[in-house]
Amino acid sequence: MERLPGFRDFYPEPLPQPDLWSADARNYIFDRWRSVARRYGFHEYDGPPLEPLELFTAKSGEEIVGQLYNFTDKGAREISLRPEMTPTLARMVAAHERNYKKPLKWFAIPQLFRYERQQKGRLREHFQLNADIIGETDSAADAELIALLIDILRSLNLSVEDFVIRLSSRNAWQGFFCQANGDRSREYEFYQAVDKLEREDPAVSEQKLASFGLSLAQVRTFIDEARPTAELQAILDNLEARDLRSFVKVDYGVIRGLAYYTGVVFEAFDRKGDFRAIAGGGRYDNLVSLISGGRVNLPALGFGMGDVVLLELLKARQRLPDFQSAIDAFCLIEDEALRSDSLTLIQDLRNAGLAVEYSLVPAKPDKQYKRAQELGAAFVCKLERTPSGTLMVNLKDLKTRQQSTVTPTEARLQLEARTV
Ligand code: HAM
Repeated sequence: MERLPGFRDFYPEPLPQPDLWSADARNYIFDRWRSVARRYGFHEYDGPPLEPLELFTAKSGEEIVGQLYNFTDKGAREISLRPEMTPTLARMVAAHERNYKKPLKWFAIPQLFRYERQQKGRLREHFQLNADIIGETDSAADAELIALLIDILRSLNLSVEDFVIRLSSRNAWQGFFCQANGDRSREYEFYQAVDKLEREDPAVSEQKLASFGLSLAQVRTFIDEARPTAELQAILDNLEARDLRSFVKVDYGVIRGLAYYTGVVFEAFDRKGDFRAIAGGGRYDNLVSLISGGRVNLPALGFGMGDVVLLELLKARQRLPDFQSAIDAFCLIEDEALRSDSLTLIQDLRNAGLAVEYSLVPAKPDKQYKRAQELGAAFVCKLERTPSGTLMVNLKDLKTRQQSTVTPTEARLQLEARTV
């Protein structure tokens, strides 16, 4: 039985084949996402993977709606697997915002599902860090979020040479569109045309823009001038104070496909341009109000960073650590009469937080030793009974080959000391 196209199996390291997905690499990314988000004062939330279909059809915009994994459930409800987290977050916030002090700084790591054409950087499921700030209109919040994005990528060993944040604003585009006397009812349609500029045949873009009374040259000039609006300048100054300015460039070529964005938008890309966007986000000041039927009105902004492009990039640039060797000690049981006492020792060491392995069934000593080496154990330990009947532990460091015979308590203390 094959797995579905666009879905992944995650194997533990060492991987049977280099092109398989690594569960250890995934955990490593999740750990970095969590620890940096917490460093910035973000709190974790989660929601259901299945939602009423309507939550997405009304608010996300046509591209995502065309990619929904939707169906009718046994209770005749129209439902969908979540293609993104933002509408769920807006629903959750609208329901209980009164219980929390603003601004909210929340993050989640949902698995998302989009029925996309499978290609490099695009699958039918992916994990996505979502970090959002709710209840703050000041651009200091935008800068805080972009700083978080930069620091997450830095924590994954990527530097200013590796990635760039392309910063833009739908407000800037709105100004451009109004000045050109564009039809306000077709504003989102215009944004979609701009969003496709980099991927579409210029002749097609020219034709689309002509329907708004604009030329491709006019649009290109606006992008090339890259004049920051006051709002973008405030974000750049804020990042300058953190010494993070060099990670960001104003680039109106970014406008984002999703319908709900209302102001500042941004995307993170690898500098060489070999990959699709690593992350994307922006302000969506009307979504909470839309989803709550006008009951709750809160400004909001956030970004999503997927694991697929990120892993491709980290692999290509060789920035992933070596995931082997997680075992602190392997307990050799050479004398089956000592199995019961060995289990006591193993339990004791595990209670102390150490990772300990042993042979579940009787095995030849050399086989046990070989297994310890295969598992990359730092130490092997072996219980021995002295002629006077006392239990002692023979401890051997597999790297330095140094050996000592100590009491079980001393063995635990020595192993604990090396893991701190
Ligand atoms: P998005 O741009 O659709 O934004 O997705 C964000 C990131 O998720 C992308 O840059 C990409 O890394 C990853 N991604 C998206 N689709 C796929 C896919 N099919 N396969 C692999 N990776 C994918 C959003 O989803 C917004 N809801 C983000 C947001 C949060 N905006 C405000 N708050």
